[in-house]
Amino acid sequence: MKIFLFISSLLLFSFLLLFTLPLKDLPEKNRKPAGTAAALQEDQEKIKLGEHLVLTSGCHDCHTPKKMTAKGQEFDFSRALSGHPADMPPPDVNRKEMEQKGLVVTQTLTAWVGPWGISYAANLTSDATGIGNWTEKQFFTAIRKGKYKGIETSRSLLPPMPWDMYKNMTDEELSAIFAYLKSTKPIKNVVPAPEPPVTNAPGK
Ligand code: HEC
Repeated sequence: MKIFLFISSLLLFSFLLLFTLPLKDLPEKNRKPAGTAAALQEDQEKIKLGEHLVLTSGCHDCHTPKKMTAKGQEFDFSRALSGHPADMPPPDVNRKEMEQKGLVVTQTLTAWVGPWGISYAANLTSDATGIGNWTEKQFFTAIRKGKYKGIETSRSLLPPMPWDMYKNMTDEELSAIFAYLKSTKPIKNVVPAPEPPVTNAPGK
């Protein structure tokens, strides 16, 4: 009897092991076959999560231009995530003073003057002037290593892009954000290149 119990529990154990081990290979191996309704639903859920993360992590704050309305300043969602508008002139301020004394930001919250010069919030839409041609790997490199265009050898991203905080997001979260950005309405907007400081940065 004891032997029987021993053998059956051994069998049960190995069965359990057999069926639970492959689950560890989530998520890619367990993905539903491409093109099926289940896979489409999975993609939709991923995009929904990405949209939620973009909304709650404040990406619109810097990457979406604002407009003045009767209720005050509001997000201009018709230009959602398209970055600093190319046709807006650079901030007309005393840059020398700003670089030494403080920080200036435009009403759109998309152009920033500080000790690093001028930085302009990037276009994150699915257009080619945004992240339309990026691979997921590039997006991970941009957020995890703070590299322009997600290219390892390119310049570091300037403030106030908080990549140093966002790098703590999980692979799943970053992948969902990227899937969402790829699904956005493409908006053509070539954001101006940043400008170096006019003074020597402190400590130089
Ligand atoms: C406080 C303002 C701010 C917030 C919040 C912010 N960004 Fe940025 N982001 C910037 C600025 C400014 C740049 C341009 C930096 C530069 O040119 O070096 C930038 C650049 C980027 C880039 C690099 C684009 C390129 O062409 O290399 C990516 C990707 C990016 N942001 C994604 C995001 C995402 C996703 C979120 C939300 C999770 C977010 N940003 C939130 C200000 C911000």
